[in-house]
Amino acid sequence: MTERLKDQVAIVTGAADGIGHAIAELFCKQGARVCVADINGELGAEVVADLNGQGYQAIFVKTDISSSAAVAAMVQETVDKLGAPTILVNNAALISVSSDVLETTDEQWQRNFAVNVDGMWKCCREVLPHMKAAGVGSIVNIGSVHSFKIVPNYFPYAVTKHAVIGLTRNLAVEFGQYNIRVNALCPGMVETPAAFKAWAKTPDPAAARAAIANVHPLKRNSSTGEMAYPALFLASSESSFMTGQSLIVDGGRSALYHD
Ligand SMILES: NC(=O)c1ccc[n+]([C@@H]2O[C@H](COP(=O)([O-])OP(=O)(O)OC[C@H]3O[C@@H](n4cnc5c(N)ncnc54)[C@H](O)[C@@H]3O)[C@@H](O)[C@H]2O)c1
Repeated sequence: MTERLKDQVAIVTGAADGIGHAIAELFCKQGARVCVADINGELGAEVVADLNGQGYQAIFVKTDISSSAAVAAMVQETVDKLGAPTILVNNAALISVSSDVLETTDEQWQRNFAVNVDGMWKCCREVLPHMKAAGVGSIVNIGSVHSFKIVPNYFPYAVTKHAVIGLTRNLAVEFGQYNIRVNALCPGMVETPAAFKAWAKTPDPAAARAAIANVHPLKRNSSTGEMAYPALFLASSESSFMTGQSLIVDGGRSALYHD
């Protein structure tokens, strides 16, 4: 099998779990050296031990992406241990929502933005100079179906996911001249360990899982692996003339008319 990311260095934020974990593993399999940057020290260390055990070159750097200093230190450690990054997958996010919009506290609003938007920008800001110096780069920002349409009870998460598209377009326009591409990958419902934990708290977990599966024309939810391949496409030279775009991978959900 050809290694589509041979000799490249990638940073994947939030890669200790869920979609980011699947992306980090696939990128390793495709020949990249990968920095797993995550706030969860225990899971992050486990994921990297597993990747190293499989013979891949990966490091874990415990990082809260909402901290400028932590992000700068993480990128520097990546440069020192793996080399300058030419791929960044901005995947980490806080998926916390308030049930009543007017009950949203300043703290909830600010923390959602601090991680989902500011954190993404901080990672871009640290990585872009390395991409400029290398004359090549690909940034993949993870948006959502919530980046385009509003589903009640996802406030302010959906507001932050709309902002992801603005950041993606703005950076794409500014950095295209340096051969740096910036795109967004926008998933529908993905069955992560966190999703199973959330369903387990409901009175009928199987029904909760089926209810969300049913909103997708494909009548099922996505696996994490089904997001890793589109991320690979956007990160690799296979999408070399694509920038400022949003790749919606949602089992057809956004094609459906809801009344
Ligand atoms: N799961 C879905 O159905 C779904 C759908 C659409 C979009 N998304 C998006 O996909 C991305 C990944 O989601 P997921 O479902 O895999 O989430 P997850 O909760 O399973 O994993 C998120 C990871 O990010 C880490 N993280 C959280 N805050 C962080 C911070 N401040 N700094 C560093 N790391 C932090 C967590 O520790 C965790 O390992 C997110 O951007 C999310 O908005 C998910």
